[in-house]
Amino acid sequence: MATRLWGSRFAGSLSKSSQRFTYSISYDHKLALYDCVAGIAHAQMLGEQGIIPKKDASALVSGLKALIKSIEGGTYVFDPASEDVHTDIQIKLKKLIGQPADKLHTARSRNDQVVTDVRLYSLDHLENILALVEGLQIALITFADKNQDVIIPGYTHLQSAQVVLMSHQMLAYVEMLERDKGRFEDARGRTNINTLGACAFSGTSLPTDRDYVTKKLGFSATAANSIDAVADRDFIIEIMAAIAITGMHLTRVCEDLILWVTSEFDFISLADTVCTGSSIMPHKKNPDVLELVRGTASKFPGRLMELLVLMKGLPLSYNRDMQMDKPALFDALETMEDMLEIMAQVFDGIKVKKDVIKGRITSEYFFSVDILDYLVKKGVSYRDAHDTIGAMVRECLDHGRKISDMNVAQLKRYSMHFEEDVKNLLTPEMSVRIKRSIGSTNPDMVKAQINKWKKRLK
Ligand code: ARG
Repeated sequence: MATRLWGSRFAGSLSKSSQRFTYSISYDHKLALYDCVAGIAHAQMLGEQGIIPKKDASALVSGLKALIKSIEGGTYVFDPASEDVHTDIQIKLKKLIGQPADKLHTARSRNDQVVTDVRLYSLDHLENILALVEGLQIALITFADKNQDVIIPGYTHLQSAQVVLMSHQMLAYVEMLERDKGRFEDARGRTNINTLGACAFSGTSLPTDRDYVTKKLGFSATAANSIDAVADRDFIIEIMAAIAITGMHLTRVCEDLILWVTSEFDFISLADTVCTGSSIMPHKKNPDVLELVRGTASKFPGRLMELLVLMKGLPLSYNRDMQMDKPALFDALETMEDMLEIMAQVFDGIKVKKDVIKGRITSEYFFSVDILDYLVKKGVSYRDAHDTIGAMVRECLDHGRKISDMNVAQLKRYSMHFEEDVKNLLTPEMSVRIKRSIGSTNPDMVKAQINKWKKRLK
């Protein structure tokens, strides 16, 4: 049998280089399983509607089921001479069941077939990604729970700012990931549409039942417009955007951890399972896995742009350009899965160096806002209090003095509102304990948040 589904109109054949350039079997073979699954629903519909004889429909179904078995069992061999996965399956089916195979393509085109396959493929991977994001959230919550009371220096502009609970920072990542999940769920909603049966793009004069196929394949709705069905790839762009944002979040987690394992910070150590050594410097333990998650995430915005540019300005309906949606989508989805899995592993193996961290919080400037709030609580305006503390900090810096060393008389030179009790504010424990706004680093609030997440993620 010919290795093309469209040979008869042509006297000549595609040049070797055109073949190499246009054939997609090298990557779209990943759709094989979905192509068979969709084919089964389609064949059943054709039989039910009396468009093909019931016995042909049964032959198609058992043939496709046999192909699924060989794909899952790893014995299916894709022929590089086939133009694409759809062609390859058609050829294999013909070999397997003979004549009835020629009826599978009734009221179907590769245009609606390929986008339906991609939707099914995407839905499976989205399901997996949602579970993996949740897995990472669980790893973060477990880590936060174990290290609930660890207080770390927090940063703005990467300058020491105020102290916070390390667990509070972990919860910040959990919140970001929760929004990422929301974006994947949104994208899933718009992916979960049955496009099969749109045919080339105008529909068909045959008495098909598209809703039957929708139900069989478990889609939530049937695409309402056959032109849109074959022309649209915005669901892919949405998935890619969600991946790009999640990837960006993961790079920020990586960057924090990479800083924390430097000898300058030295807040944590990573498990050997996610680090590598140096070929020249024997003492080195490098956070390569984190660096590579950070580095690899750079391709997501690139892939997203690739898809946006691919689709921009394409006339309706199907265009062969759209074949190039697949390398980008497959790469992005599968890479995202790898990254999420590895990031959860990283958190499972982190050891926190509590004593080192404690030793890093020596400056009293970490508490400057708490002292400022002390004055505000005594009726001083925020602006005046800011000026007072600013002057105190400057003089302390100039004379190498500490607030804790000053007596009340000295303190009162800055503000008459200062009493001895202001010195109670000069510990990390007090600094987190007195926070009381919703979502703050207060240990009771963080504990409640951890418990809320534990319940939600179980
Ligand atoms: N390989 C093609 C793709 O991925 C399948 C559809 C081909 N349709 C066509 N009319 N040539 O888009």
